[in-house]
Amino acid sequence: MLKSRHKLDLASIESLLKTQIIGRPLSGKNELWDELNSTNDRALTLAQMDGHQGTIVLARSQTAGRGRHGRNWLSPPEAGLYMSVLVRQSTPLANLSLITLASGLAVAMAIEITSGLKIGLKWVNDLVLDGGKVGGILAELKQGPINENGQIDQSLVIGIGLNINKNKVDLPAELEQKVRWLEDKAISAVDRNLLVSQIAFELEQILALLNSGQSTFILDTWRQYSVTLGETIRATVGEKNIDGLALDIDDSGALLVQTANGMQQLHAGEISIRKSDGTYC
Ligand code: BTN
Repeated sequence: MLKSRHKLDLASIESLLKTQIIGRPLSGKNELWDELNSTNDRALTLAQMDGHQGTIVLARSQTAGRGRHGRNWLSPPEAGLYMSVLVRQSTPLANLSLITLASGLAVAMAIEITSGLKIGLKWVNDLVLDGGKVGGILAELKQGPINENGQIDQSLVIGIGLNINKNKVDLPAELEQKVRWLEDKAISAVDRNLLVSQIAFELEQILALLNSGQSTFILDTWRQYSVTLGETIRATVGEKNIDGLALDIDDSGALLVQTANGMQQLHAGEISIRKSDGTYC
């Protein structure tokens, strides 16, 4: 059983918030569900129903949590953090790669500040701890109708999934080796309410930087957190594998890979990193 101060609780989160927008939906409400199919799906539904800017949707468990590339995101009760943030605006923020990189960075910083753990970032959306995946970002954009100013309303949903405590979770063997849990490495139990409020704060700061065109700072900081750059990687894009050296990210958040056939710019896809025994993880 979780100690009560570590249990997700909206009133505690809201009292800890240091934000102006995220978690402060004007005349709206943040949501905490015991069980939900997917917090991203709920936030996308809210977007269609005129949901409020900055709404946070949380669930203690998800029955149909979604990862990238159409995968499931295992979301048992009390094992993880399942959170989505609804951001609405009429001017495009940035492309989804850049938003995903920036959001990953915000979450990494929030974990570091609240638990002292050093998180690495693997292009494009993975949060890495001790060589394994401890979390991921699923950013989704939905175009709305044209508003009264002739601009297109855009809804951005930033979904965050973090593995906190394995507890009694039964994982398939292939996942067991790849997955990490924050509380296996943290010196004390993760205060989920503090973590949510810090994520909201870091996200708000980073989205403001993106909005004001200051992505250089974000990209430079992402490079410092990267566990990707300088590594030999295998990228899987659709059916194709691309092998090469991950050199850098460009201004759009694309990964630049030096391959036998020259430089390739990856905008999407998934990468694995070559280990010292020649296999990929
Ligand atoms: C990934 O594939 O690494 C991204 C995983 C994102 C999972 C989170 S959990 C909260 C939110 N709701 C979802 O259905 N997915 C995201």
